[in-house]
Amino acid sequence: MSAQPDVMDKLVSLCKRRGFIFQSSEIYGGTGSVWDYGPLGVELKRNVKDNWWNAMVRSRDDVEGLDAAILMHPRVWEASGHVGGFVDPLVDCKTCKGRFRADKLEDARCPQKPSRQPGQHDACQLTEPRQFNLMFKTFMGPLEESASTVYLRPETAQGIFVNFLNVQQSTRQKVPFGIAQIGKAFRNEITPGNFIFRTREFEQMEMQYFVEPGTDMEWFEKWKAERMQWHLSLGLSPERLKFHQHGAGELAHYARAAFDVTFDFGGTLGFQEIEGVHNRGDFDLTQHQTYSGKKLEYFDQPNNKRYVPYVVETSVGADRVTLAILVNAYREETVEGEDEGRVVLGLAPSLAPIKAAVFPLTKKDGQPDMARRIVEDLRPAMAVDYDETGSIGKRYRRQDEVGTPFCITVDPQSTGDDTVTVRDRDTLAQDRVGASQLKAYLAGKLAG
Ligand code: GAP
Repeated sequence: MSAQPDVMDKLVSLCKRRGFIFQSSEIYGGTGSVWDYGPLGVELKRNVKDNWWNAMVRSRDDVEGLDAAILMHPRVWEASGHVGGFVDPLVDCKTCKGRFRADKLEDARCPQKPSRQPGQHDACQLTEPRQFNLMFKTFMGPLEESASTVYLRPETAQGIFVNFLNVQQSTRQKVPFGIAQIGKAFRNEITPGNFIFRTREFEQMEMQYFVEPGTDMEWFEKWKAERMQWHLSLGLSPERLKFHQHGAGELAHYARAAFDVTFDFGGTLGFQEIEGVHNRGDFDLTQHQTYSGKKLEYFDQPNNKRYVPYVVETSVGADRVTLAILVNAYREETVEGEDEGRVVLGLAPSLAPIKAAVFPLTKKDGQPDMARRIVEDLRPAMAVDYDETGSIGKRYRRQDEVGTPFCITVDPQSTGDDTVTVRDRDTLAQDRVGASQLKAYLAGKLAG
């Protein structure tokens, strides 16, 4: 049990009420563990992805971007080991009809009361474990037959491996260099849950870094440190982040070494993986050479040698890290001099879906016109919102709850001297700023 509070139920309700995240196909009763991002959620997740892309691709010379297709040749998944080995052990209970992961029974709850782990009630009748492949299958073309079976990719990484030489030769990159991409992945999880933590459709942000064999552990350590730094840069609290090293029994079939970046989600969920950093050796490129019959070697011209590079992978879930950001940001506060407290999402300004909200104090004396002009002026530079309904206190609360860092109010003084007040979400301090200076003022605050 974590020392951090369990805010998940409150967060799920806030996310629906304020348009961050909705259950997929809700009017039909929902689809199991699939979620849709609403107007504010799509902005938040896009900011997370942009932040990752800037850190991993745009700000570096040694990493190139890619956007590979979800559907790939079925042999890819034989070569990668997913057809044979991407399985979880599944047990059924003949009494309650529950279905559980045999290797995670201690984390599961039997639906019978009192709450216990499956197998611990006298009435439980668990079957022997059987292996269940997590890949979604579908068919390419009109015939539903095994020859036309294709898979929805369970990781984006394979699109990078099969394009290794295309990217290297077209960009003339020299080892060490990396290829990064963001995209959807699908896993038919036996026990999905905890909101967007474990879902059947999700997005990954992955980077494979190709290195000379023998230098792999050095790069592995560098990327471990770099990735932890990225999570801290998002504003995740240092005490909620730690590494977990995979023991021999935990390592994925492709990994020589692996560390998870884990985040403390609070309550019973506690510390859980949000990112994996893996040393995949030459497993994937060698497998694809064997299965495709095509060489995937790198030619090191200055040293006149050829080799299959080793790969250090960083793999983070866009949805899972978005959930970590929301959990980390959620807080309830009392406000001095007010009976009602406030709910605040203390999001880093760069991640906040709305950067600034503009309010006319009243609907008269030209205040709405001036507020609208300010919105139009700011809109090309940032996501802004206009709100003229309800008391000013209520409007502040609405923005606090969705993490808007700045609220700009046009008041009776504004139309006379062309100034407005800017309220800071966290300190509640109010600055009076010239309307013509607003863009620069906010840009400075957002960058800082
Ligand atoms: N290419 C390596 C790979 O896919 P992984 O540890 O299976 O490694 C990497 O997944 C990351 O993808 C995880 O740390 C997590 O953030 C995210 N992820 C994996 N399965 C997920 C699921 N069912 N729902 C949401 N995110 C998931």
